[in-house]
Amino acid sequence: MREMDNQYPELANAKLDEIGIWSEIKIAILREYACAFTRILKTKAWCRGCCYVDAFAGAGMHFSKTTREMVPGSPLNALLVEPRFDRIVLIDIDAEKVESLKTLCGNDKRVEILPGDCNEVLYDKVAPSLTYSSYWRGLCVLDPYGIHGKPLRWQTIKHLADLRTVDIFINFPLMDINRNTLRKDLANADDADVAAFSEFCGTEDWKDLMYQPDLFGEMGKIGNNRTIAEWFRNRLETVAGFKFVPEPILMQNSKGGPLYFLYFASHQSVAQKVVLDIFKKYRKMM
Ligand SMILES: C[S@@+](CC[C@H](N)C(=O)[O-])C[C@H]1O[C@@H](n2cnc3c(N)ncnc32)[C@H](O)[C@@H]1O
Repeated sequence: MREMDNQYPELANAKLDEIGIWSEIKIAILREYACAFTRILKTKAWCRGCCYVDAFAGAGMHFSKTTREMVPGSPLNALLVEPRFDRIVLIDIDAEKVESLKTLCGNDKRVEILPGDCNEVLYDKVAPSLTYSSYWRGLCVLDPYGIHGKPLRWQTIKHLADLRTVDIFINFPLMDINRNTLRKDLANADDADVAAFSEFCGTEDWKDLMYQPDLFGEMGKIGNNRTIAEWFRNRLETVAGFKFVPEPILMQNSKGGPLYFLYFASHQSVAQKVVLDIFKKYRKMM
């Protein structure tokens, strides 16, 4: 029996992730913003409802590497947000994670658990209910592990931006991308990794940004983490069409190694203001 099973016996066989302090900080950021989101929208007479969408929901509960305790994941977080969300959509592609979500969140009448690839589920089952004329507003968390398997597609981000009703957080999996794709010499990256990153970005333009042919024709790396971060931020604004995309927060491990950028994008200036305050507070902790 795992140490944590004493705390939640119903999760004894559940597939839970062990998470580092950076993931706990991410969850705290999401919680703070979610509370501000519902607090602001609940004062608007025109708003018919607030919807939370966790597109890469996970099991709902994690095991902290730091405290060796259970830590509620982003879906459980959403259940506890006050003022309350009116609808909570949890999507995961992994059947075992879906079972945990059912155990932990399934009794809450606001919750819909939708198994499958979020790129398709968002398009078919979520976006149609969040049109501008619905007077619903949404907060969508896009938190993949990396760019493998069925990665987040740029088209999905663009589709959410086009709705003009949804704020998003995106985990840009920098470590995975640096390790597999943005290598010193691009020729050393697998074609599949290059293609996956292009699908994530919705373009191959990152190649010209990050690489230049040297005298021998080899593609040498000229860009760094800041280069790609600002380029992707700008793309969320100018290509996806979100009006407000602040500088992302860089999540690092305990040794200062870069893990991922957490982006936020919205059509509302007040949303950006709230997030800038939250990011400022947590940047000091990273
Ligand atoms: C980093 S975890 C999510 C953690 C969660 N956001 C939290 O903070 O508690 C990523 C999850 O995405 C799921 N996943 C991976 N690809 C997916 C896809 N295309 N659609 C939906 N879920 C996916 C994985 O099964 C995994 O549970």
